Amino acid sequence: MLRHIMFALKRFAWFKRLNAKITYELLAKHIPAEDWHFMNYGYIPNADESRMELTGEKPVQLYPLQMYHHLAALEPMEGKQVLEVGSGRGGGARHISQYFKPAFYTGLDLAQHAVDLANKIHPFPNLKFIQGSAEAIPLPDCSIDVVINVESCHAYGLVDKFLSEVRRVLKPGGYLLLVDFRSDNTMPVLLKQLQDSGLTMIREENISQNVIRSIEAEDASKRERIRLLIPPKWQKLFSEFAGVVGSRFYLTLQEGSRQYYRFVLQKPA
Ligand SMILES: C[S@@+](CC[C@H](N)C(=O)[O-])C[C@H]1O[C@@H](n2cnc3c(N)ncnc32)[C@H](O)[C@@H]1O
Repeated sequence: MLRHIMFALKRFAWFKRLNAKITYELLAKHIPAEDWHFMNYGYIPNADESRMELTGEKPVQLYPLQMYHHLAALEPMEGKQVLEVGSGRGGGARHISQYFKPAFYTGLDLAQHAVDLANKIHPFPNLKFIQGSAEAIPLPDCSIDVVINVESCHAYGLVDKFLSEVRRVLKPGGYLLLVDFRSDNTMPVLLKQLQDSGLTMIREENISQNVIRSIEAEDASKRERIRLLIPPKWQKLFSEFAGVVGSRFYLTLQEGSRQYYRFVLQKPA
């Protein structure tokens, strides 16, 4: 019943914005765990993708980190101005800003509590998190070389508005690197929005199998994190949200009624 009501309300842009704001403010405020850095479903790379060379300890959330790593590896970042829209708890920003060495990395998120948490737990000179909306990016025209967007734009009120903001802030020749999911009915809508964005599609791939393999590989540690961090009465609901094996997210991705895509687009020079 609740699922049907949510489904109906999500047709309204104002509801999607409100829902995202409340959900992610509450998560960062009430679960400020400093070793929980990611909120995406993760990625296991294809055999022909170059390996990630990590020094030090194995990251706690290896597969969500790989989602960022193998997206960022698609375009050069060194010395560039990078903006991430929907940076969440900041783990991807931390990894890219230190591994790929951009000149500066700005993480933008709607949730002020997520921004405050990310600034606290990822203090690096070339990295800063700011609060703002994907639909009104608080940065000047033509100031950014690469925009990164990981599993976030499904939550925006108007994706067209986000894409026109990306086009505005990108320098000519700059890139948008985007990963996200949609139902099989609404993925064509996203494809059309990207085609109409004024950006040129460079790469488009269905990575659903890579995400399914990640969900399976991360399942035990994800369930343990939920057990440790989430109050017992919320654990069932949160397990659905987090997409454990057997959740609706996992099952729909497996049967193909939901798809997960990766895109590279470029602003014409
Ligand atoms: C599923 S989480 C992904 C977070 C992060 N990209 C990651 O992979 O860990 C979605 C994020 O998008 C942010 N978000 C949702 N709507 C937004 C908007 N209109 N503008 C900026 N950020 C938004 C949320 O606050 C949340 O942090």
